[in-house]
Amino acid sequence: MRVLGLETSCDETAVAVYDGRAGLLAHEVYSQVALHAAYGGVVPELASRDHLRKLLPLLEKVVEQGGGRDSIGGIAYTSGPGLVGALLVGAAVARSLALAWRLPCIGVHHMEGHLLAPLLEERPPGFPFVALLVSGGHTLLARVAGVGDYEILGASLDDAAGEAFDKTAKLLGLGYPGGPQLAALAERGRPGVFRFPRPLTDRPGLDFSFSGLKTAVVVALRGRDLDEQTRADAALAFEEAVVDTLVEKCRRALAATDARTLVIAGGVGANRRLRARVRAMGEGEGVPVVYPRVEFCTDNAAMIALLGHLRLAAGQRDDLAIRARARWPMTELRPPGS
Ligand code: KG4
Ligand code: ZN
Repeated sequence: MRVLGLETSCDETAVAVYDGRAGLLAHEVYSQVALHAAYGGVVPELASRDHLRKLLPLLEKVVEQGGGRDSIGGIAYTSGPGLVGALLVGAAVARSLALAWRLPCIGVHHMEGHLLAPLLEERPPGFPFVALLVSGGHTLLARVAGVGDYEILGASLDDAAGEAFDKTAKLLGLGYPGGPQLAALAERGRPGVFRFPRPLTDRPGLDFSFSGLKTAVVVALRGRDLDEQTRADAALAFEEAVVDTLVEKCRRALAATDARTLVIAGGVGANRRLRARVRAMGEGEGVPVVYPRVEFCTDNAAMIALLGHLRLAAGQRDDLAIRARARWPMTELRPPGS
């Protein structure tokens, strides 16, 4: 079966075609980053309007690349969680197209897509694996035992890891998205000038809390001359605090489960310090660390088409309702066909 996938949950418009036998045939992502940069973050109404402008032309192009409309056997779209106006665009288009083309349709879970994105790789990790999902919108540790079989081990109680990077970058006078810029500034920082807390590492548990870190940065910089060197020193100390915290929680998650592979996904997974520290931890524990390709780590429709295929091919289908869910607990997910 060949499945068309649509993703519009936040600030990326993405379309892909995934084939059960041949794998991923086409995928394109249009990023709205430039549109939102002037506002220092994603503006939901602008995001919806831009999805509306970009989705159909992108869809026509990707369907063509994926073998044409007649080869498509089902449609999947991101139904949640995300910005409800943005989700509605993809949901309405997907559901309507499926009706017009007389195809089965399914709304899928965005985070489930992220967790299964490593299956897009030629040599996918075996189940069970521990996945750390760290992006602008999510921070999650899960034991992935199979499709639809997830145990959430920990999650952020407040800001997502990427959000913490972005907010702290803003404090340091950097543009949006701030993660990569903060990481670049940290390269010039001097170790040991500042030290910020490693939130929730002083007690058992696998949850995260990053919102206090930006306050710690504000307090540390209060009354100081904010020259380039001081900002770089603070950026480095902040990055070290986040990375140490993420690595410690991954180590604990591996110790707490039978999983022998660690998958890191999401935009923050591009961070070089995080990669180096996680690699070192994995070597120490004898656990291979897998990163899906960057294009499958960040928001994309390839993971949505793949997940749609897994569920549609097992016979799962939605009714005619157009579903957009701002919130959608992962605990509601079930394996396909169950
Ligand atoms: O997964 P992603 O592309 O998009 C969504 O969140 O949906 O993640 C983007 C996040 C942003 O918060 C960005 O600042 C962060 O990932 N990020 C980084 C780096 N590259 C991207 N954070 C730290 N270091 C980086 N090198
Ligand atoms: Zn995402």
